[in-house]
Amino acid sequence: MPQVLRTVAEVRARVSGWKWAGESVGVVPTMGALHEGHLSLARSARAACDRVVVTIFVNPKQFNSAADLEKYPRTEERDAALLAAVGVDAIFAPAPEEVYPPGFATSVSVAGVSEPLEGAHRPGHFDGVATVVAKLFGMTMADRAFFGEKDWQQLMVVRRLVADLNIPVEIIGCPTVREADGLAMSSRNVRLSEKGRALAPALHRAMQEAAQAMRAGTAAPQALDAARAAVLTAGYEAVDYLELRSADLLQPMERLNGDGRLLAAATLEGVRLIDNIPV
Ligand code: PAF
Repeated sequence: MPQVLRTVAEVRARVSGWKWAGESVGVVPTMGALHEGHLSLARSARAACDRVVVTIFVNPKQFNSAADLEKYPRTEERDAALLAAVGVDAIFAPAPEEVYPPGFATSVSVAGVSEPLEGAHRPGHFDGVATVVAKLFGMTMADRAFFGEKDWQQLMVVRRLVADLNIPVEIIGCPTVREADGLAMSSRNVRLSEKGRALAPALHRAMQEAAQAMRAGTAAPQALDAARAAVLTAGYEAVDYLELRSADLLQPMERLNGDGRLLAAATLEGVRLIDNIPV
């Protein structure tokens, strides 16, 4: 079993020892409730680094409601067993007071790329993400950090953060892991009923169809309207956004120019699912 470290002092002592020995260190930040998507990040870290730390911390600062934070699954024992099978060296699972001790007063805010899409629908979410990620980098002192492309906007926010603050960590984006029917793996998928789970791949399907239509010459607004309608017809209650944006800066795009990303968020059975694909 990987050793579970609870304090900043413990993780720093462990990582310092590895670094003194000339070993490279990879970190995989997670909030636990691990699935195959997280494990693929841990495997990428395992393949690229001498030592791997997976952080498990349900970050209160990135939740928009106390109920959501409360509902978030905590499955540390099961997570540790899964990570043992991947061969990670340590799990850093601090208590909230270790990360945010009394008197904590700093917030990291990344302008621009964090503002549209998720940023517009979840005010403050990316400030919470940027703050905790900056802290996790400072705490673990890792050389490389592994993030899933599933949270594409988050990945762009983290890249901007480390560039702007000169944080000496290399950010590695890893491909989205999907179920056989195309649904992007997410800790939220288990909240769907059997019926909802069967309907859920309609989001990814509609996005693929829109991408294909745009490549074949359909104007973007038309292709995107058709995709939104298809998602609602399939049984989703709401589409927060389904948009074509530039991949890195997430600026609105009117037509394909080789650097596009289709990003979507939609709600099914009260469960908000997000996805994105290159176009
Ligand atoms: O992607 C997540 O699980 C979280 O946003 C992260 C990066 C672990 C920060 O809490």
